Amino acid sequence: MKKKDELKITDQRNERIIVALDVDSPERALAIARDLQATGCWLKVGLELYAVSGLKLIDEFKKMGFPIFLDLKLHDIPTTVERTLRVLMKAGVDLVDLHCSGGYDMMARAAEVVHEAGKKVIGVTVLTSMGEEDLQAVGVKATAAAQVLNLARLAKEAGLDGVVASAQESALLRQECGPDFLLVTPGIRPAGSATNDQVRVVTPQEALAAGSSYLVVGRPITRAQEPRQALFDLWK
Ligand code: C5P
Repeated sequence: MKKKDELKITDQRNERIIVALDVDSPERALAIARDLQATGCWLKVGLELYAVSGLKLIDEFKKMGFPIFLDLKLHDIPTTVERTLRVLMKAGVDLVDLHCSGGYDMMARAAEVVHEAGKKVIGVTVLTSMGEEDLQAVGVKATAAAQVLNLARLAKEAGLDGVVASAQESALLRQECGPDFLLVTPGIRPAGSATNDQVRVVTPQEALAAGSSYLVVGRPITRAQEPRQALFDLWK
């Protein structure tokens, strides 16, 4: 195993990795961030960590040089989303997301505010935890795949920069939404590693080949003894 100081930025593909800091302690999050510093990767702060640490921790991460994806999956009336995004843009967040089902107006107003700040916003189409039956129960008649495509098209029309998508959807979305549309893909596992509760997993190489722009990786890195080593091991 290589020593930490030998693990310089040797792989530009690290810039396409977003490490999901799904932990409930700011101290643990900072320890992982310190280990990953200067590798080129992004950090993703989700609801759990945001709930305990708010924007202060994001400021720390920015000072450490990380691009930040704040994954709050906003879903509210357009004015509330717009005003929230103004605050988040001031905090220097680089990428944010919202639920496409909030509608065209919400997405268009969000895109305007985020783009004014020179940052990016992506949409969540259908949560991967929702099966066909769950969709029907909330009144969606389309199949999950059709609904993903409908919402991705609407997101593009409204000016969003891309969507969160499983790698299984990447090839089709890439074809439908063009080369510049961001496809941010969770469910990534290096070959032979634990899948945890993810059902349909792909390797980092497979996801990139399918057209994903960024890969969201959580536990394979955050639960490793040496997160930095685990990041570089993604490409073995
Ligand atoms: O630990 P793991 O690599 O499974 O973490 C994946 C991250 O991506 C988590 O933060 C999870 O909430 C997020 N995510 C996901 N599936 C989606 C959307 C987001 O796993 N459809």
